Amino acid sequence: MTHPLEQLRDDALDEIESALDEQALEAVRVKYLGKSGSVSGWGERIKTLSKDEKPVVGKLLNQVRTVVTAAIEARVASFREQEESAALARIDISLPGTPHEIGTLHPLTQMWERSIEIFRRMGFALADGPDIEDEWHCFDALNTPPEHPARNEQDTFYLPDGRLLRTHTSTVQIRTMQAAPPPIRVIAPGAAYRRDELDATHSPQFHQIEGLYVDENVSVADLKGALEFFMRELFGSATQVQFRPHFFPFTEPSLEVYVKSKALKGGERWIEVAGSGVVHPAVFEQVNNVRGDKAYDPEKWSGYAFGLGMDRLAMILFDIPDIRLFAQNDLRFLRQFA
Ligand code: DAH
Repeated sequence: MTHPLEQLRDDALDEIESALDEQALEAVRVKYLGKSGSVSGWGERIKTLSKDEKPVVGKLLNQVRTVVTAAIEARVASFREQEESAALARIDISLPGTPHEIGTLHPLTQMWERSIEIFRRMGFALADGPDIEDEWHCFDALNTPPEHPARNEQDTFYLPDGRLLRTHTSTVQIRTMQAAPPPIRVIAPGAAYRRDELDATHSPQFHQIEGLYVDENVSVADLKGALEFFMRELFGSATQVQFRPHFFPFTEPSLEVYVKSKALKGGERWIEVAGSGVVHPAVFEQVNNVRGDKAYDPEKWSGYAFGLGMDRLAMILFDIPDIRLFAQNDLRFLRQFA
C-alpha cells in the first residue's frame, strides 16, 4: 500500500515538473515544504505515532523532503539555464566590438625608465625621499646658508608649518647617507618644485634624477666618465659632453654638464642638462653630526653627485618645444610617444 507521504511526494514531483516558471515553482515549494506545508505537517504528526511506526515514518519523511527539495533545485537550475541561453541568443555576435583604448607611457616616464636602466647597468641602486621636506634636508645639510637666495620665499614653496616642497632632489643624498654608511651608489628620480612662472621652458614642478656615489678615492674623473657614458647611451655614441666650472654650495669643484649631438634637434648647439660636482666635505660633516658618528669621514671617503633635469633631457631627446605640454594631457601630444 502506498503511504500517504509517498502520495504527497508524487504529487509534489508532478507539480514541480509542470511548474512553468520560478514563481509557480516557489508556490509549490511553499505548499509542500513551507512552514505549514503538507510535508512539513508530517513532522508534527509523527509525534502522535506509536513507537514502532515513528522510525519508519520518520525515515520516509526525511527521504521525501530530500527528494522534493532536490527536484525543486534541479528545476530552478534548468529555468536559469534556459534564461541564460535565451539571453545569449539575443546577442548579435556579428556586431563590431567596442575597441579598448590602450594607453602609452608618458614621455617623461619613458625618459625616466631609459635613464634608470642605464644607471642600473653602472651599478646604481634606486633611492627615494619625500616631496615635502624640511629646510634642513633641503638647504642646511647641503651647505646652503640661511642667506642663500634659494631659501627666499620668492623662490621656494613654503608650507604654513615651515616645511617646504623640495627645490631639488639633492635632499635624497642626505637621507641616503643618514640611513647607511659608505660606500653609496644611488640614483633618486623624483619631482622638484620652484616658484617659477610657467612658460615654455619653466614649470613650478619639474623632474630630476639625483645621483650620489661615495667611496674611497672618488674623483672628478669618475664623475666625468659616468656622465659621459650615460649621455652617450642616451643620445648616441657621437654625443659630445662638456663640463663647465660652476658653483653649487654642496660640491667643490662644481660642474655644469652640457651635451651636443648632431642626432639631436638643435644640432650643433651646446645644451645644459645637469649640475654636478665632488661632494663638499661640509656635507659629509653635516651627515656625521646627525648620525652621531664619523661614518662619512672626509679624510677617508670622497664622492661625486649630480642632478639631471629630466624635463630638459626629454625635450631634447623627443624634440618637444614646450615644457607645458608634459602636464596638459593632450592626447594629440601624448599619442606621438606610443
Ligand atoms: N640640485 C641642483 C639643482 O637642482 C643640481 C645639482 C648640482 C645636483 C650639483 C647635484 C650636484 O647633486 O652635485 O640645480
